[in-house]
Amino acid sequence: MQPPRHIVESLEQAGQAGVLRFWNELDDEGRTRLARQLEEIDWSVFDDMRHAATVAADEGVDPAFLSVASTPAGQRLSPDHRSAAAWRPAGEEALAIGQVGAILVAGGQASRLRCDGPKGVYPIGPISRASLFEILLGRLAAIGRRYGREVPLAIMTSSSTDAETKAYLEAHRFFGLDPDAVLFFRQADLPPLAIDSLTMLLDAPDHVAMAPDGHGGMLRALSAAGGIDWFARRGIEHVSSFQVDNPLASPLDPAFLGMHLVSNSDITTQVVEKREPDERVGVVVEAGGVCRVVEYSDLPKTLSGERLPDGRLRFHAGSIAVHCFRLAFLAEAVAGKSSLPLHLARKAVSFLDESGKRVSPTTPNAFKFERFIFDLFPLARRVTTVMIDPAEGFAPLKHPPGSVADSPEHVRRAMVTQARRLLSRMEVAVADGIDVELAPSIIDEFDLRHMPPGSRIERPCVVIGESVVSWGDGTPRSSS
Ligand code: UTP
Repeated sequence: MQPPRHIVESLEQAGQAGVLRFWNELDDEGRTRLARQLEEIDWSVFDDMRHAATVAADEGVDPAFLSVASTPAGQRLSPDHRSAAAWRPAGEEALAIGQVGAILVAGGQASRLRCDGPKGVYPIGPISRASLFEILLGRLAAIGRRYGREVPLAIMTSSSTDAETKAYLEAHRFFGLDPDAVLFFRQADLPPLAIDSLTMLLDAPDHVAMAPDGHGGMLRALSAAGGIDWFARRGIEHVSSFQVDNPLASPLDPAFLGMHLVSNSDITTQVVEKREPDERVGVVVEAGGVCRVVEYSDLPKTLSGERLPDGRLRFHAGSIAVHCFRLAFLAEAVAGKSSLPLHLARKAVSFLDESGKRVSPTTPNAFKFERFIFDLFPLARRVTTVMIDPAEGFAPLKHPPGSVADSPEHVRRAMVTQARRLLSRMEVAVADGIDVELAPSIIDEFDLRHMPPGSRIERPCVVIGESVVSWGDGTPRSSS
């Protein structure tokens, strides 16, 4: 069996015929697999990728834009939410009348964390070892119960995470969400290209190496899956997106939603104060009424260290990828001709060499291509930033146990600290050095109102409403 003619032609035109080099050694199953994969490649995007890898590789962000840019004024949400009293009612009303949906971004490969399976199944609960999915979906279910309206949730997966995510969530009955109010949609893949030859890499004789097209793949994939209509049919007018690796994320915080509504923004985005120049976080910047997020790697050192007279960094609005979008804005962006630009990163990607031997480089050998959802910002009529306290909303899980930052230990510590703080606001003391965890059903103080003030927690435990549950001597349910 020869490779299908149209595939050979497309490959030859694109200078990629090398991916067929093991064709004659493949059995029928392998040939069908490879042919099917090649059939799915969007060659127009492929041209954009080659263009990005050659012409635009080192362009970065326009220096003229950066030289006049500043941090947008934005709003501040204080930890006790007192400053938010004016915004909360609008957000609560939107939740109560069912105007708000959510998008959980869970298609990443979690290559740094090196976990088995999708990152969302990682057992992160400090005591319970509840997974990221359990915590995030459980909280959404609790918000639905509190306001009397289920929050429709669209979950973005990728070829790396799709099957396992669906199987896991079905097995766990969506952690309390109505399955009819959950939509899965799968982002596209793009093939990494070898840096030296701009050719695709094989990770098996019958398979081209692929990677998800970045969190910005969300826009096109959501629309292709009918997701925008799915939300609209449910009366949704605003959708808040958040990432699976942040168990403190509060995309449906009523004050945040209220600010979005009151400011009549196309996008409202949560930011945290960037304090040191070398923090690896993108920053929201603004010039001439245009807002954008600049990746830390695109911010020249001279600018990232610049300080304002009050001592803060000139660019201090660190993006944490919690964005609330007006649904109509997303629909307009999809309908618009321009797609989100491709960004490229140099990564080490393992591959089969000419002789079929696996090579696992330790230094970057390939360009990976990604779209970023924040490239929607310049298209928005109005973007509002809401500065939150990271202790209340940002603890990303990126690196494996024992790492110096963003490790499971750091995330669990942040969860315990947040729980202790909430309990102490309700006058519940927790003995020193004791780990305590809030069940996902606890959204805020209101859910702890029946805990007797003055009570004291002496053993590691999970707080479930007014009661506490401890696991024996506090040893976790299972180890990570
Ligand atoms: P990261 O860029 O940190 O990627 O994604 P990651 O997959 O978690 O980890 P690394 O970089 O491979 O180590 C931040 C969030 O965006 C999602 C991830 O699932 C995570 O929630 N994401 C990232 C996608 O959904 N798709 C992508 O293509 C990339």
